[in-house]
Amino acid sequence: MKNNKYLEFYGEKGISPVKQDLSDINIHCAKREKLYRQLGIPCIAFEGKNILEVGPGSGYNTLAFLLWGGACTLIEPNKTGVNEMRKLFDTYKIPNDNYTIEECTIEEANLQEEFDIVIAEGFLPMIDNHREIIEKLSRHVKRGGVIVITCIDSIGLFLEQMKKLVCHILLKDTPDYETQVKIATEFFQGQLQHIKGMSRSPEEWVIDNILNPAANTINLLNIKDALEIFPEQFSFLGSSQRIFTDYSWYKDLFYQEKEELFLQYKIKRHNFLMAGLKETILPEKDSELFEKEIEEIRRDAIEYEKEHSIVLLDRIETKLAAIRETALKIDKRCADFIEETIEIIKNLKKGNKVAFETYRTFYTSSGRSQQYLSMVRDKVSWR
Ligand SMILES: C[S@@+](CC[C@H](N)C(=O)[O-])C[C@H]1O[C@@H](n2cnc3c(N)ncnc32)[C@H](O)[C@@H]1O
Repeated sequence: MKNNKYLEFYGEKGISPVKQDLSDINIHCAKREKLYRQLGIPCIAFEGKNILEVGPGSGYNTLAFLLWGGACTLIEPNKTGVNEMRKLFDTYKIPNDNYTIEECTIEEANLQEEFDIVIAEGFLPMIDNHREIIEKLSRHVKRGGVIVITCIDSIGLFLEQMKKLVCHILLKDTPDYETQVKIATEFFQGQLQHIKGMSRSPEEWVIDNILNPAANTINLLNIKDALEIFPEQFSFLGSSQRIFTDYSWYKDLFYQEKEELFLQYKIKRHNFLMAGLKETILPEKDSELFEKEIEEIRRDAIEYEKEHSIVLLDRIETKLAAIRETALKIDKRCADFIEETIEIIKNLKKGNKVAFETYRTFYTSSGRSQQYLSMVRDKVSWR
């Protein structure tokens, strides 16, 4: 099997840190319904359909597909996830005939059929062989069927990455995993309360996003790269967040859809930087440079987690100062976030105790850290 940091980490710790708050199942399903509506798939489209879901974890998100009347084939290699998923489906009295669980990776799965809806939520950007997996999944989408994946880019991840860096400065002298979880949870608890609609426990969120080595994958999967991977007979259906517009005439089958989507991505991607911002457009060159600089900062931040070198922190400070001007063009709050991050790092380097909640932008802001993408396979061959 390929080197897969998720499976190594989850397996080693015996965890599946993906539980969602189900205290009100209607609220949970309404969130799922909104996601799929943004993707152009109303939940009625699941009724009586064959769904393939890869990496369902403990099945919390899958539950909605089953309650909407879908029949699910679930590919999940993590034993803890599989056990929790079976328990969850029993709790909600899902008939056993409505799902099958294959306890293996998608690479190992021997799939014979094509499915109406194929889903891989929340892990492809963080594993190196995402191209191979998208290609395999595409071969199992029926004509007229749809596929949903998740994408992440360095800009959307930037705020979280900087908070993660600060957290790892706090953790640098703490090798013990349980203590790390405690310190990181204390650091993030108050901050996560500012995210509207947050439905995961701070502890599991921290384990999955701050301590999970998979989060440090260099080769992320952004929407543009994902669009490029899909074979020609797949067309764009929707995205969450909905950043794309399309003024083409429906009869114009030769409209260069992908090229248009790439163009829009290149001038709009910076909007993923911070949740709550109004849309702005940047010249392509500025946006490209901004992304490049943010990628360099991300690499240094990842390196810091291994080496704990002050030189890297100095370098990050300099690079943060260099992107402040572009951040200001996007929104003053983005520039404030950068200034506050620099100040926090400076203080921590000096060994000062920092009252994080007083850095209001740093403390209360979050990025639009992941995007979902849906693609539909042509019903008829015409290309
Ligand atoms: C972060 S969890 C996401 C769970 C769920 N889809 C969600 O969005 O909440 C990633 C899941 O993908 C699974 N996974 C990772 N690599 C996989 C692979 N190669 N094949 C199938 N599942 C995989 C993990 O075991 C884990 O359950």
